[in-house]
Amino acid sequence: MSDEERQHVLTAQEFYLAKEKAFLQRATETAFTAREVEFIAKTLSAAKGQPILDIGCGLGRLTIPLLKMGYNMYGIDVAKNLIARAKREAPQFQERFLAANLFQLPFRGGYFAAATMMWHVISEVSHNLDAVFSQLRLMMKSGGILIFDLPDTSSDQTRIKYQGQPGQGNYAVFLAKIPAMSSLKKALDKAGFKILHVQQFLWGIHKFVIVCKKM
Ligand SMILES: C[S@@+](CC[C@H](N)C(=O)[O-])C[C@H]1O[C@@H](n2cnc3c(N)ncnc32)[C@H](O)[C@@H]1O
Repeated sequence: MSDEERQHVLTAQEFYLAKEKAFLQRATETAFTAREVEFIAKTLSAAKGQPILDIGCGLGRLTIPLLKMGYNMYGIDVAKNLIARAKREAPQFQERFLAANLFQLPFRGGYFAAATMMWHVISEVSHNLDAVFSQLRLMMKSGGILIFDLPDTSSDQTRIKYQGQPGQGNYAVFLAKIPAMSSLKKALDKAGFKILHVQQFLWGIHKFVIVCKKM
């Protein structure tokens, strides 16, 4: 692991350890989980039953409902405390959650028929977009669908939600790291992913949801 990567892992672990409570609250306040779950379930219906990787799954906000619907999910996250919470929340799915870094996954290549990476995980790993998508390329089967989101930085609603109210701001740190759509497109193309569609979500934090296919 490079020094930069070690620093990234420590930053994410420290951040989510320190902010676990606030993150839990934010997850229930701002993320419109049921609609996101419905969108993912519909988009990945052809992969139902086959292994699906939820990268940066956090508390299992999306992983757990999808598991309950019969999707064959595996949730990985670098924040050990969030993985522990997900396991406590859904003990029947304990073995589906793993504390692991996206860049060092303990799965064989081509194991996953699909992958999800939701709620600005991309802004937390944007220091190396090429490595993100080449790792996903390695992990996924050909023809596999990848769904991830990108906060819409042109929306005032997004800015307010990320930055918080004066005196309470704590999300600006992520806003600064949201990659431009053009850099994303370039990195996806380089790794052999084709964008199928980009959909604007106007609920929760205003964002774009990108659905692509490993060619
Ligand atoms: C805002 S949370 C999103 C959680 C979840 N996807 C959801 O929709 O509720 C972003 C997550 O990305 C995780 N993360 C950041 N860098 C990571 C990495 N290199 N490998 C795995 N997870 C990572 C963080 O620990 C955090 O739980």
